[in-house]
Amino acid sequence: MLKIAPSLLSADFAILGQEAEDIRLSGAEWLHYDVMDGIFVPNISFGIPVLKSFRKCTEMFIDAHLMITQPVRYVKEFCDAGADMVTVHMESDTPENITKALELIRAQGKLCGIVLKPNTRAEAALPWLDMVDMILVMTVEPGFGGQSFMADMMPKLARLRAWINERNPGCLLEVDGGVNKDTAKLCVENGADVLVAGSAVFKYKGKYKEAVDALR
Ligand code: DX5
Ligand code: ZN
Repeated sequence: MLKIAPSLLSADFAILGQEAEDIRLSGAEWLHYDVMDGIFVPNISFGIPVLKSFRKCTEMFIDAHLMITQPVRYVKEFCDAGADMVTVHMESDTPENITKALELIRAQGKLCGIVLKPNTRAEAALPWLDMVDMILVMTVEPGFGGQSFMADMMPKLARLRAWINERNPGCLLEVDGGVNKDTAKLCVENGADVLVAGSAVFKYKGKYKEAVDALR
């Protein structure tokens, strides 16, 4: 079943608790938590203490997307702070350390995943395909909400879908960046089962439920 994961990056940070409750009422399945360090991406968002407080506001599944260098240094803390799933960019450290980060997430009893930037080829995910719970394909350059969807990522998505079906059918395939009611359709057609949406949900002028329903 398709899951919708609204990205808190586009939420109103002054009322995060209320935003979480409104998203729960919208029927969205997950919450997406974008962590940026100003080095791996040219922007800084929020980190561990905010997640810890936010965790107290909601029982929803929190999918933490770490856009930070050497995430192996912090994954345990994100798990302890309440993330249910932690994903790390495969471009953010050596392959050995990426594997170590994934193992650390698993050891905390949480789900783990890898993320591919637009310029990273689908093949690069193969070494981790058997050990992850999710692969996240970026359809914008990570760093900011509100950018345009890169439709040329669809062949990559479809290839990953085929490999997942063959080798690790339980693994989820998530898309992040520029997802709206039109591009969502393309993502699903090419095999996505989790759609992240920031602006399409939080900037929607109306009830979040309408925005979330429109993505399905
Ligand atoms: C971008 C983030 C995304 C972002 C998506 O680096 O990873 O999760 O919030 O925002 P929209 O849906 O507005 O493109
Ligand atoms: Zn994200």
